[in-house]
Amino acid sequence: MHVTATISQARALFDVLPRPLGFVPTMGALHEGHLTLVRLARQESLSVAASVFVNPLQFGENEDLTRYPRDLEGDRAKLAQAGVDVLFAPGAGAMYPPGFSTSVEVGTLATVFEGAIRPVHFRGVATVVCKLLNVVRPDTLYLGQKDAQQTAVLRRMIRDLEIPTKVAIVPTQREADGLALSSRNAYLSPVERAAAPSLHHALQAVRLAMASGKSKAEALAAARTRLHPLAQLDYLDVVSADTFEPIETLCAPAFVIGAARFGKTRLLDNLWIE
Ligand code: PAJ
Repeated sequence: MHVTATISQARALFDVLPRPLGFVPTMGALHEGHLTLVRLARQESLSVAASVFVNPLQFGENEDLTRYPRDLEGDRAKLAQAGVDVLFAPGAGAMYPPGFSTSVEVGTLATVFEGAIRPVHFRGVATVVCKLLNVVRPDTLYLGQKDAQQTAVLRRMIRDLEIPTKVAIVPTQREADGLALSSRNAYLSPVERAAAPSLHHALQAVRLAMASGKSKAEALAAARTRLHPLAQLDYLDVVSADTFEPIETLCAPAFVIGAARFGKTRLLDNLWIE
C-alpha cells in the first residue's frame, strides 16, 4: 500500500491505478464499519483508495475536533490488510492552504436535522468530499448508511455538480446489541455504553408501530419510552430518503432517524425503509 500526504503525489498515484477505482473517505480511528466499506470496494473495483483526514471544516466551535480519536498507524495497518492500494492522509495545510476560501453549500437538505443542530457541518463535509473527489477521481464513492443525511447531501452534490462518480451505500454495521459502530463509541463510559443501544431500539419501535397501523405521533411517543433515561434525545422522526422532509406514513424510500446524547457523546442512528 502506498501512503501519501501530498496532493501532487496522490494525483500521480491515482492516475496510474487500474480502473475501476473505488474510494472510501474516512476520518480515521477505523472500525469494522469503515472496513466493510473498504472490503466492498475491494470486491467491486480493480483498485481501492482510502483517505484519512479529520476535517476541521465539518466541526463546529464547541465540538470534538481536538479530542476526536486519531490512530494513523493503526489505520494504516488495517487498510493495508483490507487490500487498499493507496492511502491519502493529508494534513490540514495540504487540504486548506493559506487563502483557501471556497465552500460547497448543498441547500435545504443540509439545514434540517443534523444540519440544524450542527450548522457548519454539511458545508464542511460537502467541501472536503468535493475536493477529495477532484484529487482521487474515483469511479465509485463508498459511503455508509449509518450517516444517512450525509449520504443524501453528498448524492445531491454529485448530481447537482455533475461529478462523474457513482455512489455505493453500505448498510450500517452494528455491535451484537444493536449499537451502530462509530468512532465516537470510544468516548462512552460503561454506563453510557450500556444505555446507548436504546437509540436503536427506539428506532425499531417507531418502525414496528407505524407498520402495524399506528399514527406517527403514537409511534414516536411509544418509541420514546424505549429510550434509556440517560439518553437526551435531539430528534426522532420519519423522513423521505431523498429530501429529509418529515412524512406521516411509512412510504418508501424513507428513513426513521434519531440522534441522542449519552453524557457528552452524541450518537446517530437510522433505519432504512425500502
Ligand atoms: P467517518 O465518520 O470516519 O466515516 C467514514 C465512512 O464510514 C462514512 O461513509 C460513514 O457513513 C461510514 N461508517 C461509519 N460508521 C459506519 C457503520 N457503523 N456502518 C457502515 N458504515 C459506517 O463520515 C465521515 O467520516 C466524514 O464525514 C467524511 C465523509 C470522511 C468527510 O470528512
